[in-house]
Amino acid sequence: MQNIIHTTDDSRPKVYIETYGCQMNVNDSEVILSILQDEGYSLTEDIDQADLILANTCSIRDNAEQRIWGRLDQFRLQKRRRSGVVIGIVGCMAERLKDKLLDGHEVDIVAGPDAYRNLPEMLKALTPDNPQIDVLLSHEETYADISPVRMDKKGVSAFISIMRGCNNVCSYCVVPYTRGAERSRDPESILREARELHEAGYKEVTLLGQNVDSYDWKAEDGRSVNFPQLLEKVALVSPQMRVRFSTSHPKDISDEVIYTMAKYENICKHIHLPVQSGSSIMLEKMRRKYNREWYLERVAKIRSVIPDCGITTDVIAGFCGETQQDHLDTLTLMEEVVFDSAFMFAYSERPGTLASKKYPDDIPYETKTARLNEIITLQGRMSLKSNEKEIGKTLKVLVEGPSKKNHEELCGRASNNKMCVFPSRGEKAGDYCEVIVDSVTSATLICSRKD
Ligand code: 5AD
Ligand code: SF4
Repeated sequence: MQNIIHTTDDSRPKVYIETYGCQMNVNDSEVILSILQDEGYSLTEDIDQADLILANTCSIRDNAEQRIWGRLDQFRLQKRRRSGVVIGIVGCMAERLKDKLLDGHEVDIVAGPDAYRNLPEMLKALTPDNPQIDVLLSHEETYADISPVRMDKKGVSAFISIMRGCNNVCSYCVVPYTRGAERSRDPESILREARELHEAGYKEVTLLGQNVDSYDWKAEDGRSVNFPQLLEKVALVSPQMRVRFSTSHPKDISDEVIYTMAKYENICKHIHLPVQSGSSIMLEKMRRKYNREWYLERVAKIRSVIPDCGITTDVIAGFCGETQQDHLDTLTLMEEVVFDSAFMFAYSERPGTLASKKYPDDIPYETKTARLNEIITLQGRMSLKSNEKEIGKTLKVLVEGPSKKNHEELCGRASNNKMCVFPSRGEKAGDYCEVIVDSVTSATLICSRKD
């Protein structure tokens, strides 16, 4: 994913930001922009105009990093064409590679995910012979006091970061090393942000964390707030403002979260619950701390309390030592659950992770790709099957804007996160519409209007 933030203002130094990776990174770019705007920078979407070029990077898989190396070559061309252009690599790849990014790559600034407050100081201290690096990870930083400059120009939907870092040590995953230890953000600052967004006309907030279920804020007086309590507080900001959250962890998602979702109409009925594998042997090696039966029980619980809940997932094909039987276990789990959609990946060994130290990356490329393709094909069928169950239902959709294919039509998401297209009656982004599902594809619900 790549997002480019837009704006123009001619008198100030200009920053251009490209964002790679997850929603958390998108939100971090908004934090970075807020910090830089306070320093007098304005945003440009035109790299040729930029005084400062930033890439907010992702290290989750090798191909994510390879893309960024490719872009870095282009940034360097800018620098050669226009003297004085500053190049900054920030985010997860900055944290992972540290000063290796400085060696011969013409990078001026390297800042890890907890160093964004220092960007102004780093920019001031920067000279051609003195590149700046700050990759210290923090146990406290949550950027709680910084109001992110929102990227969604429609002003409909916004991210709110509720925590940073991750304390799980899934053996394949680089995130605990790039984003550091888990810390929860003060709930008052989260609620203030949610209220401000509501007052500014936003209709949807998404609470973000690597593992939202382990949100746990402790006040000095000993009181604490856990995730379901936070979710409830945010839901109460306004019944007109939808609340989403991501990502849930199967080992931690509690009944209380599920009951809180069921209690409030404006908490969207969608859970992103990455399973990673359907094989308990693989899950053990992945250090996920649940097994296949546990995962299926959590799904059953969700569906017993919220029958229409959208459930989406992440799957990794070809983890270390994965047998054909392990792979089949993933396929049968997917058939059993019928996920609404899934992000599906081939395992990519990440240096420094437990798996890289303990287990050989021994599944041949061809086998990984073949298994991934089987998973993708199966999910296509499952997505269609899950969408077909929606036919005839009435759904409440938050309008995102005109449909890409046909500008006479609108598109938007239902509570369960499914994308709907339907005829326009002149509504705009941010309006709610009731629609009836007439037909479906594996990606979209095609709807008519309810009178
Ligand atoms: N290789 C492939 N996929 C990975 N993910 C995380 N680490 C790796 C890796 N080393 C996937 C997981 C996670 C999602 C964000 O990325 O499925 O849930
Ligand atoms: Fe997000 Fe993980 Fe990529 Fe970092 S490595 S940007 S946390 S997906």
